[in-house]
Amino acid sequence: MRETTGVVSAAEIARQLEYCQKIRAHLESAAETAPALGPPLACVETYGCQQNEADSEQLRGYLAAMGFAFTGETAQADLVLLNTCAIRESAEHRVYGNLGALTHTKRENPRQLICLCGCMAQKESTAETIRKSFPYVDLVFGTHALWRFPELLLRRMEEGRRVFETGESAGVIAEGIPLLRQSRVKAWISIMYGCNNFCSYCIVPHVRGRERSRRPEEILREAQELLAEGCREITLLGQNVNSYGKDLEEDYDFARLLAELSALTGDFRLRFMTSHPKDAGERLFSVMAAHPETIAPALHLPFQSGSSRVLRAMNRGYSREHYLGLIETLREKIPAVVLTSDVIVGFPGETQEDFEETLSLIKAVEFDALFTFLFSPRAGTPAASLPDPMPGAQKSQNFQRLLAVQQEISAKKHAAYVGKTLLCLLDGEGEAGELTGRSEGGRLVRLQGDAKLIGTRRPVRITAANTWALFGQLEADADETHRLTGK
Ligand code: SAH
Ligand code: SF4
Ligand code: F3S
Repeated sequence: MRETTGVVSAAEIARQLEYCQKIRAHLESAAETAPALGPPLACVETYGCQQNEADSEQLRGYLAAMGFAFTGETAQADLVLLNTCAIRESAEHRVYGNLGALTHTKRENPRQLICLCGCMAQKESTAETIRKSFPYVDLVFGTHALWRFPELLLRRMEEGRRVFETGESAGVIAEGIPLLRQSRVKAWISIMYGCNNFCSYCIVPHVRGRERSRRPEEILREAQELLAEGCREITLLGQNVNSYGKDLEEDYDFARLLAELSALTGDFRLRFMTSHPKDAGERLFSVMAAHPETIAPALHLPFQSGSSRVLRAMNRGYSREHYLGLIETLREKIPAVVLTSDVIVGFPGETQEDFEETLSLIKAVEFDALFTFLFSPRAGTPAASLPDPMPGAQKSQNFQRLLAVQQEISAKKHAAYVGKTLLCLLDGEGEAGELTGRSEGGRLVRLQGDAKLIGTRRPVRITAANTWALFGQLEADADETHRLTGK
């Protein structure tokens, strides 16, 4: 296996783009022997978190450079690329299920290229499973080899053998990969890759490598380009954005990056995720409070457990009291902040008392929304080999109790918006002529309106709500932003 570390040079990316041209030539010569049906089609399916969504924009950028157009149907595709997630067992099951279904599409079209990449593909064990049980998969490559997708695909096409590029090798930073973005209104910018935290349950550091920060000038340049193209909202991505810059030579941190991005010209909002309670604090909250016109009043701050004992076993680096103190400081500085979080139920050794502490934290904080997960053992992580005496039925019962408590809180929070007017970025079309939007705090809003309004920010009067969404109407006089009464 080739070892790669550090920053990928511009010359190496230029070489990948040359490989794209060679692939294009191959595809064009193949098309000459078959009836010309237009450009070859690629189908990219993305699983997992926003970081993977952002990676898929690079993979699509490469595919476009190879001459592919895109389809959402695997049956129509000349190339299928599954960008996978390994965070829980269920995520892996979904991928294997969908991969199984591709036996049919490959039988219909034996020239179809099937590729698997992303976090699951970074694990050597996945490569073994694919070698044994999925003979029709053409190419498997992990997160560290993403930037070499053209080279690996070309190798597959020219050598006629399956290609595996997985397992150990260090992560890199690669600037200059072409991007094909999903939306012109909203964009992701990955500001860093990897994670150093090694929470005892988590596979991410094992499949994404150590933390590495992109250079601030690259991030500022990318943001400037986006704003010049009319982008209205940028979400900064990293597994732990609060440790941005720690690996850079100069003294530069996430709060400074936010402040410098806020100073760019344009009518835009910044969001970011994910923050870690051991690293997020007063400095971050102060920058958010100082730039209410650009930094959205929203924070995703996973707490994982309400029990300090379990937090220690999770290697999270903070206590229940520290977390509660952070929330108090945050709400003092930004009273209207919309707060969301992640929690794990059934961590090995979690007792009923520990679980009750998690419930009590949820009731005390009243999150606007909560992402709830049942613990899933991940091979290679310390938590996977801890004694786990609580029966599965008890864990499920606790999980259901927690869901019920949070649903009541989310519904109450959403109901409080009814009658208020929220400034919303209209960002897409929903079902049956409906528009979707996001409030400043990041709440999903559905409303009737003309698709021409997509990409504009409008006051929306909230008329109804359920646990997951708000429903509203455009204010008749769209300029009356001074009547806004919520976030
Ligand atoms: N870097 C982020 C998010 C990582 S993954 C953070 O630190 O918060 C998103 C969420 O998945 C985590 O916050 C955690 O709640 C959940 N998760 C991670 N590993 C898990 C596992 N093995 N079982 C169940 N949930 C898990
Ligand atoms: Fe996983 Fe913890 Fe890193 Fe988040 S901070 S990605 S939960 S190891
Ligand atoms: Fe999944 Fe990888 Fe994200 S494991 S949650 S896609 S970093």
